[in-house]
This record gives sequence, structure tokens and C-alpha cells, in this order.
Amino acid sequence: MTSAALRSRAWKLLEMVTTPLLPSDYLDLVSPLRAGADLRGRIEAVHPETSDAATVVIKPGRGWRGHTAGQYVRIGVDVDGVRLWRAYSITSPTNRQDGRVTITVKAIPDGKVSTHLVRSTKPGTLIQLDQATGDFVLPQAKPAKVLYLTAGSGITPVMGMLRDIEFDDVVMVHCAPQPQDVIFRDEIHDLVADKKLRLTEVHTDADGMLDIARLDELVPDWAERETWACGPAGLLDAAEEHWAGHGVQERLHTERFRPSIVVAGDGGEVTFSATGKTVDADGATPLLDIGEEAGVLMPSGCRMGICFGCVTPLRAGAVRDLRTGEITEAEPGALIQTCVSAAAGPCDIER
Ligand SMILES: Cc1cc2nc3c(=O)[nH]c(=O)nc-3n(C[C@H](O)[C@H](O)[C@H](O)COP(=O)(O)OP(=O)(O)OC[C@H]3O[C@@H](n4cnc5c(N)ncnc54)[C@H](O)[C@@H]3O)c2cc1C
Ligand code: FES
Repeated sequence: MTSAALRSRAWKLLEMVTTPLLPSDYLDLVSPLRAGADLRGRIEAVHPETSDAATVVIKPGRGWRGHTAGQYVRIGVDVDGVRLWRAYSITSPTNRQDGRVTITVKAIPDGKVSTHLVRSTKPGTLIQLDQATGDFVLPQAKPAKVLYLTAGSGITPVMGMLRDIEFDDVVMVHCAPQPQDVIFRDEIHDLVADKKLRLTEVHTDADGMLDIARLDELVPDWAERETWACGPAGLLDAAEEHWAGHGVQERLHTERFRPSIVVAGDGGEVTFSATGKTVDADGATPLLDIGEEAGVLMPSGCRMGICFGCVTPLRAGAVRDLRTGEITEAEPGALIQTCVSAAAGPCDIER
């Protein structure tokens, strides 16, 4: 018998004697970041950035495969005994010497995970991690001219890029209510002082929201620049329209933190058959939120229709895709993304 086969048999025996807990469970207790464990991370520090944002330093477990600048990671955090998954852009450079990764989180009012991470997470906390993913990344061939158009916490994936790759000609337009709300302000002003970046800060409390047409004045050659934009839906919708209107939409790359919800209709009574709960739902609130609110364990990830971490069988009734208005009716094998689907009449989903 080879040593690999022996190890495998010994492992199986161990599993038999330790059931219902498996040996891997015991190992998780002593070595949660070991290779082969479900990917975890240990929070090592939380550094305040502004009054409502903080950078979280994570030591990933052995299975971490690294990231590309601009990508995001899904993390699973226990808040009040419930595991909640959210997506956060990685703000550390890809070649960080100590192997740690950082995310930078802005606490939003009533936000379960963001508030928890910014205000009450302690170093030493274990979280679940997924591998980094996302296509909001820089191309292999360096563009001659770059524009970063960001607002609020939308600066995070771009900070990951700025820390990773230098360009000869890079301009940033960043919006925040006031100077003290600009996350990474000192660092980006250092880049400006070193002539590595040209920056326009728009302070929306004083100047109002950025009118996208002002780009002609702020960045006269904006249409020639390969552009990465991240921020609230209003800014990104306006940018997409503007770039398309000038026939240069292929130069614009956007990252959204929330889905654009365009369609709503009548809701209905939602049954979570596996849990035995029934609640009324309007036609605009994602079933993911409805389920969580009702105390149903709902899997999730990005919460905006891109990761498929929330896919759930639809057993009866119909749901509406909030992005397109498309109706999905129950039939054998029907699956829905609960984060972008709302009740369209009574329905039963298998949670
Ligand atoms: C690809 C991707 C990358 C992301 N990167 C970052 C990042 O780098 N930094 C960061 O801070 N966040 C980022 N987010 C957003 C993050 O995943 C969470 O949505 C955010 O932290 C809110 O979660 P929560 O649990 O605090 O709020 P929840 O408890 O889920 O929601 C509370 C309330 O806030 C509303 N809400 C939810 N999300 C937002 C939002 N983003 N803005 C305004 N209102 C919201 C909800 O509709 C609800 O009413 C990213 C999202 C995606 C999809
Ligand atoms: S949670 Fe990512 S697709 Fe629904």
C-alpha cells in the first residue's frame, strides 16, 4: 500500500471514530488557516480611515490564490450569531510582502456587516473567505492614458490599482461630501505631490453632485482615456450614458456595489418551505432581504446578481427579476437568484 493510500485509510478510520465531528473539524479548531481547510482568514487589524470607514487587514489561509488589482473578495462574517456574506474590493497591492490582504469598508447606516466590521470587529476574529474574483481589472497592455472616476467607497478597487501599477498619464476625479470623507486622502495627495497622479476632488456638500458633462472642463481628453469608474448608481448610469453618447463606451469599465433595480410590480405571499415560514413581500424588495428579515438562513455573496451565491430552487409561483422585469415561473428545475428577484404574486422558495 502506498503512503498516500495509507494516509487516506487512516484518515477514514479517524473520521469513523470522531463522527459526528470530523477530524477536519478538530483541526479547524487548532489550525483554521491550514491548507485543505475551508478558506478562512484571520482579521489582524482594523485601521480607521475616516469617521465611517476602516481598512481591515486579513491574513488569508493557505489555500488563498492571490488576486489581480481591482478584484473583490466575498467574506463570510458572523454577526449576532448569523453568518452573513458580503463582497469587498481588495485594496492591498498584489505583491504585499507579508501576504496579508486588505479590504476597506465604509459603514452604511443600518448596514449589518459594514457597521460590524468598521465599529466592533476585534483583531483575531476568523472570517470565511472566497477566492478573489471580478473583471474590473487593468488590461495586460498598459493604456497610454488612464482616468479613474470614483465616488465615496467606490475609490476602493481603484486604490488597489493605484497601489499596484503606475501609469505615465493618470487622472482621477473623485467625489465625496467633504475633504475629510475622502478615503485614502493622504495617500492620494502623496501620489499627486510625486507627480504620479493628477487629481480633482469634487466635494459634493459644497459643489453639488458631479454633472458628468463637467468632465469636458475637468479632463478635456476624457474620451481618449481608458476609464475605470466605481461609485453610486447615479454616477455610473450617467457615465455609461455619456460614454455611449460619444461612441466610446468600450473605453469605460464600471464596477457596481449594488444592482440597478429598474422594475418593480405587485408582490405576494412568500413561503420558505424548508423553514416553514410565510411572510408578505412587496414587489420591490429582493427575496434575499425578505428571507433574512424573516430569520431564514439565506445563502448569499455579492447581493447584486453577479456571483450566483444565492441561487435557490423556486418551488411554486412566480418571481420577477428586478433588473429586467423578466418573470420566472416555477417548473421542475427552476432556479432563481434571490438577491435580484422579488415576489410576483404568491411563491414558494426552497429555503
Ligand atoms: C463587487 C463589490 C465590491 C464591493 N466593495 C466594497 C468596498 O470595497 N467597500 C465597501 O464599503 N463596500 C463594498 N461593497 C458593498 C458591500 O458588499 C456591502 O453591500 C456593504 O458593505 C453593505 O453591507 P451591509 O451588510 O452593511 O448592509 P445591509 O445590512 O446589507 O443593508 C443595509 C441597508 O443599506 C442598503 N445598502 C446595501 N448596500 C449598500 C451600499 N453599498 N450603499 C448604500 N446602501 C446600501 C440596503 O439596501 C439596506 O437598506 C461591494 C459590493 C460589491 C458587489
Ligand atoms: S448573492 Fe451574488 S448573485 Fe445573488
